[in-house]
Amino acid sequence: MKRRRFLGSAGITPLAAGAVSARPDFAAVREDFPRARTSTYFDNASCHPLSVHSAQALHRYVDWETNEVGEPWWPYWAKARDESKILFAKLINAKPSEIAFARSTIETESNLLNGMNIQASGGNVVTTDLHFSAALYNYKMRQQSGLDVRIVKNRDWRTDIRDIERAVDRKTKLISIALVSNVNGYLQDVKAISALAHAHGAYVYADIIQCAGAIPIDVKAMGIDFAACSTYKWLMGVKGYGFFYVREDLQGTIARPTQHSGGVRFNYSPWTTEPEPGREEVSFTPVTGPGRYEVSYPSYEGAIAAQESLKYIHHLGVENIRAHSRSLTARLDKELPALGYPSITPPGTESPIRAYVTKDPARALERLSKARVHVAMRFGNKMRIAPSVYNNHEDIDRLLAALA
Ligand SMILES: Cc1ncc(COP(=O)(O)O)c(C=O)c1O
Repeated sequence: MKRRRFLGSAGITPLAAGAVSARPDFAAVREDFPRARTSTYFDNASCHPLSVHSAQALHRYVDWETNEVGEPWWPYWAKARDESKILFAKLINAKPSEIAFARSTIETESNLLNGMNIQASGGNVVTTDLHFSAALYNYKMRQQSGLDVRIVKNRDWRTDIRDIERAVDRKTKLISIALVSNVNGYLQDVKAISALAHAHGAYVYADIIQCAGAIPIDVKAMGIDFAACSTYKWLMGVKGYGFFYVREDLQGTIARPTQHSGGVRFNYSPWTTEPEPGREEVSFTPVTGPGRYEVSYPSYEGAIAAQESLKYIHHLGVENIRAHSRSLTARLDKELPALGYPSITPPGTESPIRAYVTKDPARALERLSKARVHVAMRFGNKMRIAPSVYNNHEDIDRLLAALA
């Protein structure tokens, strides 16, 4: 790859954390995403492109791995892990002491379920059919081995809180939702869900991969007890790195770690020449805080990309990001149904993801591909369009022209 492909006109100096743009220049933002030059890309809900900032940080890392690995022995890059966790905590209004690094959203939800051990307590889990399919698969597998799982069906592509109310009872231990659905962008009424859960002594897990970085999230105000996401969608990072939020007072108790990683100390020869009397031969100190959920090293590639992209997101401001995508989705909402593509995203949905029923998906994809417009066609005929910070109204014009 030629170096110039990574240079954006908005400047390539790594961003300092902290400053928020009052009104970001989204034309300059577009220049930070070379993907915007190669085609009209609207599939950010599958995989968001990297900005030049994250790409350059990764190049620096690859240079180090190639030419200087081992110097220093303890990688300087560990800082990226710590800073990315602090920046993510700020993004969702959590404390840094509530954030562990994670490898995948689905893996993290599965680990949480193992640690909660709901089945042994005779409890049940309530989830919805707008949760991600791989998460539902996880629940179906657990159901096979005896876990009481209740999957609430959507009504007209939204979850009715009364249906959740009917599914929840005194034995419910967890309500698990995708805060924003990958299917149609539906944003769950999480405050009502957490009020319901907490009134029954249950907890709320939110899969936030389709919204962290795209819409404001406040885990405290929303009553979310656990949340997880990877960084390769709206956090503009890469696969293999993400975050696990665990409310501080639930760490180690309600959410017990099920994988362990730490160190031990030997107190005998030949490990030590002066064994300490009274000390165990092999001793260890359990890890406390969110580190108890972390196993070994993180993906430094992931941490580095996330460190840059989280700085970038904070710099733009999530409210500004949301306002930008709202102006684009508003046009889709208005114009696509008029062109014969009825929406399955409830009106007024506050997320950047939209889905439209397509009569002839193959033909639509062919036309879009000719126009070099990239969308996702899912569940047969549901066209998902998910604009992000670097998309603009000309992109929408191209999409509409191809589909008209
Ligand atoms: C709502 C939702 N949850 C989870 C995932 C998968 O996440 P991960 O790859 O981090 O396990 C996706 C991927 O599309 C998703 O849309």
